[in-house]
Amino acid sequence: MKRKNSIDQNTKDDYSLGYQKGVLDYLSYRALKSFDFILPYLRPDMEVLECGCGPGVVTFEIAKKVINGSVIGIDIDKDQIYSNNRKVDESKIKNLKFGVANILELPYTDNFFDIVYMQAVLVHIKNPINAIREVHRVLKNDGLILVKEPVMDRAIFCPEEPLFLETFELIDRAIKSYGGDPSVGRKLWPMLNEVGFRDILISSSWEQPGSLDEWPSFYEGWINVVKGKIGDIILEEGWADEKHLVDIGNAWMNLAKHKRGYAASAWGEAVGWK
Ligand SMILES: C[S@@+](CC[C@H](N)C(=O)[O-])C[C@H]1O[C@@H](n2cnc3c(N)ncnc32)[C@H](O)[C@@H]1O
Repeated sequence: MKRKNSIDQNTKDDYSLGYQKGVLDYLSYRALKSFDFILPYLRPDMEVLECGCGPGVVTFEIAKKVINGSVIGIDIDKDQIYSNNRKVDESKIKNLKFGVANILELPYTDNFFDIVYMQAVLVHIKNPINAIREVHRVLKNDGLILVKEPVMDRAIFCPEEPLFLETFELIDRAIKSYGGDPSVGRKLWPMLNEVGFRDILISSSWEQPGSLDEWPSFYEGWINVVKGKIGDIILEEGWADEKHLVDIGNAWMNLAKHKRGYAASAWGEAVGWK
């Protein structure tokens, strides 16, 4: 694999999902459905950092809870950060800002934040333990890391349509070819423990549609991932041809439209104190 060893996650080009609109829409939709596990830990007066905030939808929600504190969202992609800051300017929110930064080299002093949150970021990092070390550095003593990452090799497919399984296998392969680990969500406890976090609490959840009305947009989100940069990687590497990717998309559309079946993917969540 020509790319594998050169990926060091220092630029946005090292990120396999890409930034096509369909992918960003999917991330926003999915992220808003899946951050409940952090809510019990947010207090109004906290300093919070979100790493790899992407479209920033959860960062905005955190800012609404941390009304007397402040919230910073960072991402390696300056376009998303620019767009997020424009939304901040248009809103009345005063305690929120976004900045361009790499999670592996955070531009903050030691012991600064009460909480650092991230979702679906370690999955794309070649040495996730280094990112967790950096988070540990910027957290105050007794500060909290909140992290949620996919476990892509655990999924439910009903019916067991081979194209569904293949979709996950292809995404898995593409993320790995860029140095990521698509099932890093099951390794959160050992990694947090190695870095020195204590009282680590692990939970898990499923990424799945809610009401039947939600089905088309939900499964369309997964199709958009395969239509984006991941699809380009699959074609470039010759793991599938365009017709096969269309067949995969149609299989998911069929599920979304006829609602005869179900698919869900697993996530790991961790909370740990410095
Ligand atoms: C899958 S998206 C997740 C976005 C958001 N957290 C969510 O759950 O919807 C991963 C994000 O991490 C960012 N990213 C990738 N590598 C990074 C790095 N080394 N430092 C900071 N952000 C990074 C990408 O630009 C992308 O926006």
